[in-house]
Amino acid sequence: MTKTIKIMLTGKDGQLGKALVERIPASIKLVALGRQELDLSDKQACHNAVLEHRPDWIINAGAYTAVDRAESEPELALAVNAAAPGALAQALDKVGGRLLQISTDFVFNGSQAHPYHPDQPVDPISVYGATKAEGERLVQKALPPTHYCILRTSWVYGPVGNNFCLTMLRLHRLKSAENQTLNVVADQIGCPTSTFNLANACWSAINLGTNGIHHFCDAGAASWYDFAIAIGNAGVAAGIIDQSANVIPITTSEYPTPAKRPGYSLLDCTDTRNVLELEPNHWQKELAIVMSQIPK
Ligand SMILES: NC(=O)c1ccc[n+]([C@@H]2O[C@H](COP(=O)([O-])OP(=O)(O)OC[C@H]3O[C@@H](n4cnc5c(N)ncnc54)[C@H](OP(=O)(O)O)[C@@H]3O)[C@@H](O)[C@H]2O)c1
Repeated sequence: MTKTIKIMLTGKDGQLGKALVERIPASIKLVALGRQELDLSDKQACHNAVLEHRPDWIINAGAYTAVDRAESEPELALAVNAAAPGALAQALDKVGGRLLQISTDFVFNGSQAHPYHPDQPVDPISVYGATKAEGERLVQKALPPTHYCILRTSWVYGPVGNNFCLTMLRLHRLKSAENQTLNVVADQIGCPTSTFNLANACWSAINLGTNGIHHFCDAGAASWYDFAIAIGNAGVAAGIIDQSANVIPITTSEYPTPAKRPGYSLLDCTDTRNVLELEPNHWQKELAIVMSQIPK
């Protein structure tokens, strides 16, 4: 008989949180918490929630993800992205539970030209990246290595929520109707990752009792420009938009933002895919699957 595992999920209303709830395996008893049930900026509340629910695992999918806004709200970003996982980890240590901490490619500086391996040192260049890196550090400090799994991912998108894919679909519709071009940054390289595959990776990590630092993304590589073109084509093919806009490649310097972003943040996922026994689709194939789930 399979043992029931009790999971406490934070960020249940985020794009990953929703995909996790939709894909919950049969052997899981889930306590799903959103902002209303648990304010992650409140360390004491994080601590109390763990002692109340005493989960076998926490999946910390809640995060302050507004990369540009974080530059002007560093304290709040630090509280949610670092102090909260730190407090969850400390409390978990008391009850013997484990933590699956979701992290990001933005912990790297993006200056290398080959995929980042999980063992490489972090060197964030934005407030968001720095707060996520600090969250990783506090988790590792509070829990023994057997009791945490840090899963870094990149360019997360799905059929709901706030993400590049849904924004681009809106812009393709708008710009093509006005016969305008869509300018998109072409000199930042990473990999889109669907919430579907990421949620599967999370459940697989828990099922297999995975620990350590891991990288998980969909297969392949892309610039935001490549991704924007593919979104337009896939949106037309799925009947979500009538036509795509003409996408023009621009440089990062032509599109200034408050936060700096890594120029190259591809993650080396080879080891993790073997450990998790998963072979995710190439991002272009996965994009068509996500598109088929977006309401027309
Ligand atoms: N999105 C990406 O491209 C990306 C890339 C790499 C890694 N990641 C990581 O992947 C994980 C999941 O991200 P996601 O894309 O699913 O993000 P998301 O859609 O923004 O979801 C994050 C969730 O956290 C919640 N949250 C924020 N502040 C909170 C607070 N003070 N108390 C309680 N809840 C709070 C948000 O609630 P509200 O909606 O109410 O604000 C939201 O439901 C995060 O750890 C993120 O750092 C994301």
